[in-house]
Amino acid sequence: MPPMRGVSALLATLAAGLASPASASSPFSSFLAQPARPNVLILLVDDLGYGDIGAYGNSTIKTPHIDLLAAEGIKLTQHLAASPICTPSRASLLTGRHAVRLGLTGSKIARVMPSPATPGGIPLEEMTIASMLRKAGYATGMVGKWHVGMGSNCSHCPLAHGFDSYWGMPVTNVQACAQKGEWMTQSSMLHFITDQWPASLVFRAALALLAISASLVLSGKLSSRAFFAQCALTFALLYTVYWVPSTIMLLNHKACVLYEGNAVIEQPVQLKYLTHRETHHAVRFIDEHARRADERPFFLYMAYTKVHTALFVADEREGLSAHGPYGDNVEEMDWSVGEILAALERHGLGDNTWVYMSSDNGPWRESRDEGGACGFAPGDSEHEMAGSKAQTWECGLRVPGIIRWRARYGRTGRVEHAATSNLDIFPTIAAIAGLPVPPHVSERAYAPAPAGIVDGRDLSPLLEARLPAGEPLHDFIFHYCDLTVSAVRHGRYKAHFATTKWEDERAHTCPSALVCKCAAVAHDPPLVFDIVADPAERRPIAPGSDAEADAAVARMREARARQEASVIGVPSQTERRPEVGNFPCCGFPHPGWRRILAVLLDRCGC
Ligand SMILES: *[C@@H]1O[C@H](CO)[C@@H](O)[C@H](O)[C@H]1NC(C)=O
Ligand SMILES: *[C@@H]1O[C@H](CO)[C@@H](O)[C@H](O)[C@H]1NC(C)=O
Repeated sequence: MPPMRGVSALLATLAAGLASPASASSPFSSFLAQPARPNVLILLVDDLGYGDIGAYGNSTIKTPHIDLLAAEGIKLTQHLAASPICTPSRASLLTGRHAVRLGLTGSKIARVMPSPATPGGIPLEEMTIASMLRKAGYATGMVGKWHVGMGSNCSHCPLAHGFDSYWGMPVTNVQACAQKGEWMTQSSMLHFITDQWPASLVFRAALALLAISASLVLSGKLSSRAFFAQCALTFALLYTVYWVPSTIMLLNHKACVLYEGNAVIEQPVQLKYLTHRETHHAVRFIDEHARRADERPFFLYMAYTKVHTALFVADEREGLSAHGPYGDNVEEMDWSVGEILAALERHGLGDNTWVYMSSDNGPWRESRDEGGACGFAPGDSEHEMAGSKAQTWECGLRVPGIIRWRARYGRTGRVEHAATSNLDIFPTIAAIAGLPVPPHVSERAYAPAPAGIVDGRDLSPLLEARLPAGEPLHDFIFHYCDLTVSAVRHGRYKAHFATTKWEDERAHTCPSALVCKCAAVAHDPPLVFDIVADPAERRPIAPGSDAEADAAVARMREARARQEASVIGVPSQTERRPEVGNFPCCGFPHPGWRRILAVLLDRCGC
């Protein structure tokens, strides 16, 4: 395999590919005889629930701009994130591949990138939507939340993955960014201290020392005063091992940084008008592209910092919604979507821009009033979907998914109920840009997927309304819980092989851990639901009661085993030990001891 996954193959076929084979055969070619390659705009919201927007059935929250997008586009009612948590979901969106293949997930210490000082990121040989489109001649830009790894000195930041420009938060917004509350739980902090070298070494040495001295005191060989002195020393040591990680993890608001390109420009980030500033940069990207009369099409990835906690809105928006600060946040985000879409119209780019709007995962129900709504899926208007972010119950996975490309699909306002995944976005964009669609992992053959092969499917047949009725795009959709497949979707059935152990059974949450462990309880036989008729997962189908379901379960069981066997173990990037020297430190050059000192003494900032 060439180092850049499939790039040479893409380039080789590009000349031929530009003739867009899809346009010749499609009944939609009449909309535009020879559609120029479209611009591509991705609007990704953080932790937005399926039930948080008007187009998906919320009658009390005001999201007129997203609703209009849905009215002019195609609304997917069963759009599923590849993972119910941000880092792996975003990695899958960007590459079309399950995050386990990239190492962008973990199960022990960190399921997401836990610190801007974590060394890794999406491996540089992976192809992202941006690197694919840039090679094909697109102008590319990104605004907002990255959270798939910065690497050392920004070696894995957006500019290393195909973006010409970047403005935003390369990690994530968390409670600590508002200088209140904690994000990393005490238990994950304890894991960090007890498991990660060198903290673990100091921790163990301190404990051993204390144990020895205690036994010396007991046998009368050590004075109690010496023992107390030693306790003080041990405490100092333990404090140090707590202090270093808490300085460089997302517990410290200095870890909330704003970048332009590869350079930190604000530390800590000022949240208040961040959505306005993100909007300004996204609109400016479009304006400047139009002003330059750039011949190239563009790709803009607008990944909102919203609506994840810490919640923040502009002063003039406070209290406007019927749903408190969370509702204000959703409505401010919708305003921003309106501004960006208006910029397209202003330059006459509204028709030939392929727009995708979605969320990275379900709402964070653990944050109660500060989290979103799971919503009601078609099939059950009485029960909200089960679960929360970070769980493979439907609420964690099912996200809004709206796609609009007026030049090709028309002003459709169509609703599509086929099961789709955010893994499908990468191959779909390849197709609409006239590039060869990367080969799909064969669901029947289950050969290990080498680089160059994606897990997603080109959605074009569905979007162009030429998918034969009832024919699924995917034989199986695998719902990953970190490193393992905890649930499988096959036709109308979903089988849970492992589920969450809820702390709060009624709310489906784990408040003390901030998110639930997704595969805490194994199920054999699996817990099966008809997810189309019962999207709230209330009525499990008993084994032996439904022959069709039993047959589907047998196929899912086999598919799951083969899927897991097909994934070649890749070292986890999220669980790599953060390094003080990697911590962004405005005002101090990288690297060097002065910078390390500045980080530890909290001197970074601008
Ligand atoms: C870190 O990145 C900056 C900006 O790209 C660059 O100027 C600098 O040389 C890099 N430093 C090291 C040590 O790689
Ligand atoms: C609408 O959204 C708000 C904010 O998330 C939520 O409180 C409310 O329950 C939602 N309504 C419905 C019908 O889902």
